[in-house]
Amino acid sequence: MLPRLNVYAVPSLADPKELETGTVVVIDILRATTTIVHAIAAGATAVVPCASVEDAQRLAEILHETDDTTSVLLAGERDCLPIPGFDLGNSPSEYRPEVVFRAVIILTTTNGTQAFQVCRRAQRVLVGAFVNASAVLKALFEESHAVHLLCSGIEGEFTRDDTLFAGMLVDHLERKSGLRYELNAQAITARENWRAAFAPPYSSGAEPIPPEMLAAQLRNSAAGEKLIAAGMESDIYDAARIDLFTCLPTFDPTSGIIVG
Ligand code: MLT
Repeated sequence: MLPRLNVYAVPSLADPKELETGTVVVIDILRATTTIVHAIAAGATAVVPCASVEDAQRLAEILHETDDTTSVLLAGERDCLPIPGFDLGNSPSEYRPEVVFRAVIILTTTNGTQAFQVCRRAQRVLVGAFVNASAVLKALFEESHAVHLLCSGIEGEFTRDDTLFAGMLVDHLERKSGLRYELNAQAITARENWRAAFAPPYSSGAEPIPPEMLAAQLRNSAAGEKLIAAGMESDIYDAARIDLFTCLPTFDPTSGIIVG
């Protein structure tokens, strides 16, 4: 039987039972998973994705009460903007070593941190973004069971930044893993959109894609347009730096914690 390779353009299209098999990659290019990779690469001890602002605040209080030696940072966005009273927003560039090294980051975002809640019964959950693309691919090359690429979308709708990355993973897995996959319809669409966006040698990975070239594609997405309207266009460039990092953050579905 061929291993399955599924793309879900929004979390509501994923069957949680299906996600229990194989490996899930959570994708929110603009910006949650890009930011999480930046945080772990900068030395954060852990990132805890929370669904709501209230859940995040409650967890921070509990951590402060039980352990006053660990630095706990509240982070996230609503409508792209930093949440009043929180330590950090959701811009990748905020997550520098001098800010987050050895800190536990409690993160709540509109879409990305919600997607992790759908994977609470999955076996293995990876955090994927263009900034750690090769690390994700390397792990997926070794997966002989199902691969599920779970795009966070934007408020329940598809957004092109996420599906472009999913399409790149599908294209590279097919070309380089030596395996044949059984693709769902969304995986085929994502792969074709990726190939339409970048001609060879860029689409095949033979030539690195310059950040400006990828950023031009990411700007042309629902999430990209929203960020530009919020005055945060530079975050798009930061999300377009392929393989800036080699780390592969993983989400433990039992504890709900992401570590490097
Ligand atoms: C999200 O997770 O909802 C997004 O990353 C929104 C954003 O911060 O741009």
